[in-house]
Amino acid sequence: MNVKELNHPLIEHKLAILRDKKTGTKEFRELIKEIGMFLCYEAMSDAKLKKVEIETPIEKMKTGKLDEDNYAFVPILRAGMGMLDGVISVIPNAKIGHIGMYRDEKTFEPVNYFFKVPKDIAKREVIILDPMLATGGSAIDAIDLLKSKGVKKIKFLSIIAAPEGLKKVTEKHPDVQIICAKIDKCLNENKYIVPGLGDAGDRIFGTK
Ligand code: PRP
Ligand code: URA
Repeated sequence: MNVKELNHPLIEHKLAILRDKKTGTKEFRELIKEIGMFLCYEAMSDAKLKKVEIETPIEKMKTGKLDEDNYAFVPILRAGMGMLDGVISVIPNAKIGHIGMYRDEKTFEPVNYFFKVPKDIAKREVIILDPMLATGGSAIDAIDLLKSKGVKKIKFLSIIAAPEGLKKVTEKHPDVQIICAKIDKCLNENKYIVPGLGDAGDRIFGTK
């Protein structure tokens, strides 16, 4: 499977606080942003750099810089918005698109209610943001929408993913790399991730 799981004690530590039901909205939001930043760091591990020459206070040197115009971040609303500040702090010149989606409470199927992306999206590498990948339905639909706009290179960043969803997304879109902080055990009867962290959108925005 085209999936990378961050395996690091610091991530485990941050996730332990994030998952805890006693963690309040402010800290939850800060952690989602912070883990988003770590996921973005991992997503850039294969980035092609353009050659540049700079001058340090000591001497001239040849080095590499990221071409920030090659990237766009696309959070899936609402919860994906929580990761946006983190990733944009490390690649500040990337463009941003938005996909609005919610899961129908009875069928658990995603419903798309908004889609707006930069005009030149097709020539950019697109990094989709959503902290939760559960059944994988939202991820598949979001990737379909972006591919329909001509996007060729897509990565998907999630904080917690369920094995069932990962299987479904990678079968449908094997070219899309999924980078997640943790792969959890399974889904429950309400298609929530177990042990998970509950409803990410509600915990970020304090709506429940
Ligand atoms: C959550 C989450 C994902 C989706 C994952 O959104 O942020 O978008 O569910 O589930 P899936 O993999 O089974 O499709 P939700 O529908 O709760 O909307 P919200 O972010 O607006 O709360
Ligand atoms: N959406 C969430 O916010 N949490 C889950 O566990 C599954 C879907």
